[in-house]
Amino acid sequence: MFNNLTKLSYQTFQQSKNYFSLAHKILSSRLQNLVHPTVGEMSKTSPAVMVKIQAKLNQLLETDWQDTQKQIYPASLLFDNQWQDFFRYYPLLWLDLPQTWERITQNRYQDFSPETSQEGYPNYYLQNFHYQTDGYLSDLSANLYDLQVEILFSGTADPMRRRILAPLQHGLQKFPGLPQRQTRILDVACGTGRTLKLMRTAMPQVSLFGTDLSPAYLRKANQLLSQNPGELPQLLQANAEELPYRDNYFHAVTSVFLFHELPAAVRQQVIEQCFRVTKPGGVLIICDSIQMSDSPELAEIMDGFPKMFHEPFYRHYTTDNLVQRLEKVGFEDIETQVHFLSKYFIAYKPA
Ligand SMILES: C[S@@+](CC[C@H](N)C(=O)[O-])C[C@H]1O[C@@H](n2cnc3c(N)ncnc32)[C@H](O)[C@@H]1O
Repeated sequence: MFNNLTKLSYQTFQQSKNYFSLAHKILSSRLQNLVHPTVGEMSKTSPAVMVKIQAKLNQLLETDWQDTQKQIYPASLLFDNQWQDFFRYYPLLWLDLPQTWERITQNRYQDFSPETSQEGYPNYYLQNFHYQTDGYLSDLSANLYDLQVEILFSGTADPMRRRILAPLQHGLQKFPGLPQRQTRILDVACGTGRTLKLMRTAMPQVSLFGTDLSPAYLRKANQLLSQNPGELPQLLQANAEELPYRDNYFHAVTSVFLFHELPAAVRQQVIEQCFRVTKPGGVLIICDSIQMSDSPELAEIMDGFPKMFHEPFYRHYTTDNLVQRLEKVGFEDIETQVHFLSKYFIAYKPA
């Protein structure tokens, strides 16, 4: 009885996020058309694809619920929401929209405020991904990021991130008897720390590490992760192309929503680095967008995404053979999964 109630509450919670995101998208698109009529209507998803998306979303929520029943993580995680951030930054998100629309209209995607330092970053990184203000280089961007992603994915960003937890725990079983405290997990391009937070709740004792290129996003991650009891994850500013750790250091490495924002050659380099720092027998889990090969029925969404959002490497990503890239550096036993709009690559370093 209590279980059924919790499940129903979770479904209702997610449904309300879905409606909220939809209302936000409709209203902002109408306003954008009023202010910039030349841009044209937001590209519309066909009704047939909408039906498929809804079914996949329901399946994602069911899997999310089932993983709590398998005790992979507590059911309380299903209701985790940054309410304070929502009330504080949602109005700012609206205030920021006119600048974003201007960037879209004028096709400006290397537009940074004078206070942001651009020194030391690779060229491919110095862009307004999603046309967002300051790219990844300011506190404003870091404060708005999670809200923007939540709206983009209709409230399913964390349910999709949580899909790495089951393969992660399964992968760690390759080290039987290893105490949690001695288990080291690295999240590459951890952003604002959402994935690290999920891991901390699911595995309270493990040693967590996170790297990202953006100091502002790391600052935000530090704030978020400080709210959790237990050891604070070690955060480090680093390019994923050159991970500052010794060989064979981590029992597991994860990376969420990074690869579609990297040029092809950099994707390969990052995979090589992940292989280098993973222990023999350890697991690498990549979560990123779906690809054309296994989700052809959602091709119109994958075609539309880089048109509406500045995502210069996304199109190539959707047809990139990441399994081949993983095999090339030596990973084996590679499995892929698809949940809603994300794809997962689970790969082992030979023991
Ligand atoms: C789309 S966000 C994903 C963030 C986070 N993993 C999440 O789940 O929301 C991409 C992140 O990758 C980081 N990033 C992009 N290129 C990078 C690189 N070469 N090295 C390290 N971080 C990078 C950005 O700073 C940003 O935080």
